[in-house]
Amino acid sequence: MARELMEFYFTQHLPWQPGDDPQRFPGTQCKVLSEDGETAEVTQLCKLPGQWREAMELDFELEVYVLDGAMCLNGKHMRRDSYARVPPRERIKISSDTGAVMLCWLNAAPTANPDDAGVTFRNVLETPWETTGIPDGLDYMGIRRKFLNVEPSTGMVRTFLLFTMPHNFPPGWTCEQETHPCAEEGFMLAGDLAGPHGIMTTGAYFWRPKGVLHGPYGSRSGSLTLIRFREGMLHVDWHDELSFTFDPPFHPALPPRLMESAGTVYRGQERF
Ligand SMILES: [Fe+2]
Repeated sequence: MARELMEFYFTQHLPWQPGDDPQRFPGTQCKVLSEDGETAEVTQLCKLPGQWREAMELDFELEVYVLDGAMCLNGKHMRRDSYARVPPRERIKISSDTGAVMLCWLNAAPTANPDDAGVTFRNVLETPWETTGIPDGLDYMGIRRKFLNVEPSTGMVRTFLLFTMPHNFPPGWTCEQETHPCAEEGFMLAGDLAGPHGIMTTGAYFWRPKGVLHGPYGSRSGSLTLIRFREGMLHVDWHDELSFTFDPPFHPALPPRLMESAGTVYRGQERF
């Protein structure tokens, strides 16, 4: 089954579980955030213990964002806010001497791109903020983005870090809702982002299939979110207006099993 709407839950509620699947980093602890039963694509948190090392060759494109600690990928040192993209079937070595937590995405990519230049690394802290490509309807959010994964064949920004400024809300406290003909996914790194389903804070995660109405959003203290667009090209379609409030109740749209295990607000201090 394709990934269902999950908007949104706090990943802190999920238990760490052994990552036994050889494609899922054996000997680590994982939290599967969402999974596509048809393509086996997965988004997961992965905790590498100290003194861990593994060589692997995945049938998937792999994206990694380091959330904590330090690790090495093909000899390249990665720490918090480092990003890497690994093409499918690329032989890689990953290790950590002192432990690390990474957010990783396995993307189904059946055909290798002959022009692929191997693993790409990004020091996200030192990556410049971009102001381009923001729809006029979202001007009020003061959006800045850091581009992490730009699809070579289309120029589409597939994975990026999204910043919205503090005290942003739609003019007149109302805004048209939007949809996309592609799926959208987000993981909050910091701040708060209020919307129709509640207030997302650090560690909040959503998977939104194509065509699902969303917004309007706003933020009291600013927000920093990892966003991805998958399964199609991005286009913003606007719909009827909906009013905005900074204090919406938590009203998640989740599959029943997630509603049971993670259907409450997280108020602790953990980041994931
Ligand atoms: Fe969107």
